[in-house]
Amino acid sequence: MKFFIDSVDIQAIKKFTLSGMVDGVTTNPSIIAKSGKDFKEVIREICEIVPGPVSAEVTATEAKLMVEEGLILSKIAKNVTIKVPLTWDGLEACKTLSDKNIMVNVTLCFSAQQALLAAKAGATFISPFIGRLDDLGEDGMDLIKDIRAIYDNYPSLKTEILAASIRSADHVRRAAVIGADISTLPPSVLDELAQHQLTDKGLKAFLDDWEKTGQKIL
Ligand code: G3P
Repeated sequence: MKFFIDSVDIQAIKKFTLSGMVDGVTTNPSIIAKSGKDFKEVIREICEIVPGPVSAEVTATEAKLMVEEGLILSKIAKNVTIKVPLTWDGLEACKTLSDKNIMVNVTLCFSAQQALLAAKAGATFISPFIGRLDDLGEDGMDLIKDIRAIYDNYPSLKTEILAASIRSADHVRRAAVIGADISTLPPSVLDELAQHQLTDKGLKAFLDDWEKTGQKIL
């Protein structure tokens, strides 16, 4: 499973790059607003650090304008992926941009039939939002299962499943068991993936015993 970082936190992106965990980055208008950073500048900065796909979302709602915005954003760097919402205009923009060999991430996907449309429109990535379905009392992971089954039924569909709105390490585990291609993770969730109380306890015991030997490696 590939990991994307769902954040514009440069320090976190750099930190997780050191352990080989960053295959790409996703952003959305809310993340940009919260960061207070200049959109195009921060996308450029991230693209200099991460060679993989970096999603930048359009904010127009008409297909023609989405394409215009997408073409501007795609000039920032060759790994910019244009993120469009799952509306008919978004699907039309997806088709136009993907026909120009520009990577497209179709976002705000909440049903398997929406994911089927995105794949037919040539999406590089489909972003089903797990956490927001959980918030409604559904099991967001059922959506990942359905999309996986549908895409596997039709091998000509090349769209990758990018599990989004991930809120916990268990979401990542379940998405990986189902076979989602990618999880996009807030840095806090990526950090949580390495945590286990038995690891901490075991390490403490090893270090205490080692100290008793009086030896040193370095
Ligand atoms: O990638 C989409 C993701 O950022 C949405 O997450 O937590 O706002 O539902 P959330």
